[in-house]
Amino acid sequence: MQVLKTIEELQEVRKNISGTVGFVPTMGALHNGHISLIKQARNENDIVIVSIFVNPTQFLPGEDLDAYPRKDEADKKICQMCKVDYVFMPEISTMYTKEEVLIKAPNKSYVLEGKTRPGHFDGVLQVVLKLFNLTQPTNAYFGKKDAQQLTLIMQMVKNLFIPINIIPCEIIREDDGLALSSRNIYLDVTQRKDALLISKSLYMAGSLISSGERSVQAVKNKIYEIMKTLDVEYVAIVDREFNELENIEPKNTIILVVAKFGNTRLLDNIWL
Ligand code: PAJ
Repeated sequence: MQVLKTIEELQEVRKNISGTVGFVPTMGALHNGHISLIKQARNENDIVIVSIFVNPTQFLPGEDLDAYPRKDEADKKICQMCKVDYVFMPEISTMYTKEEVLIKAPNKSYVLEGKTRPGHFDGVLQVVLKLFNLTQPTNAYFGKKDAQQLTLIMQMVKNLFIPINIIPCEIIREDDGLALSSRNIYLDVTQRKDALLISKSLYMAGSLISSGERSVQAVKNKIYEIMKTLDVEYVAIVDREFNELENIEPKNTIILVVAKFGNTRLLDNIWL
């Protein structure tokens, strides 16, 4: 495995790759969620590139950019164990100049996550496009955990005719149901226990729908009831394009929940 720090090193390496390239962009602090993406990329491609870059442009002022967990050495070991070929770990000054061409995410980026974090997705698309241009992957792997991010990236690739397959990957959870997230380490013991109500509410919603419920309001009521002791930021039931639904459409519905534990926001969702 080779660690690449500069654009020049990466471009030189990329020029000499002839087979398929699987790319997994991350912000590091790798956990089993990231690892499942990397393993899938390893299974499906000749060469695997992982990027580790805490991208400043997707953090709003006052968010946890400075506190975002950084575990470079452990991350490199994980990549090595997963038989990654190249890890790209650039400095901020390598990725950005003073005069940037800005990317403007479409209107759907200003609902849900984008409403709480206006401009967040502009930064995500900007860095992902830069990383795509550098790594030129055949396949790029993204988790369904960040459902809105995944949808916007798929739209960007389609709109800008970018010749890359976007591969959506399943959400990886702890045994008790909590979706893995780099931010879980911020939870204290009580918050960690309370956080289980998030996945529980989604499972209950799923089984309500399996038993025939189609009313979005009824499903939302059930979710809010289960999470009534939590600081719920939003519950949303949308189709795959992120349009709000009135009636559940099996196979075309995503149920998303965000709850806050102090300063920590936890996101979770299920795809029907
Ligand atoms: P990060 O939060 O590090 O996540 C990297 C990838 O791992 C994303 O595609 C995310 O959806 C996926 N992921 C995180 N937790 C997961 C879980 N429990 N199960 C499955 N996949 C999971 O998302 C970002 O970084 C950044 O926005 C990035 C795309 C790298 C751009 O900076």
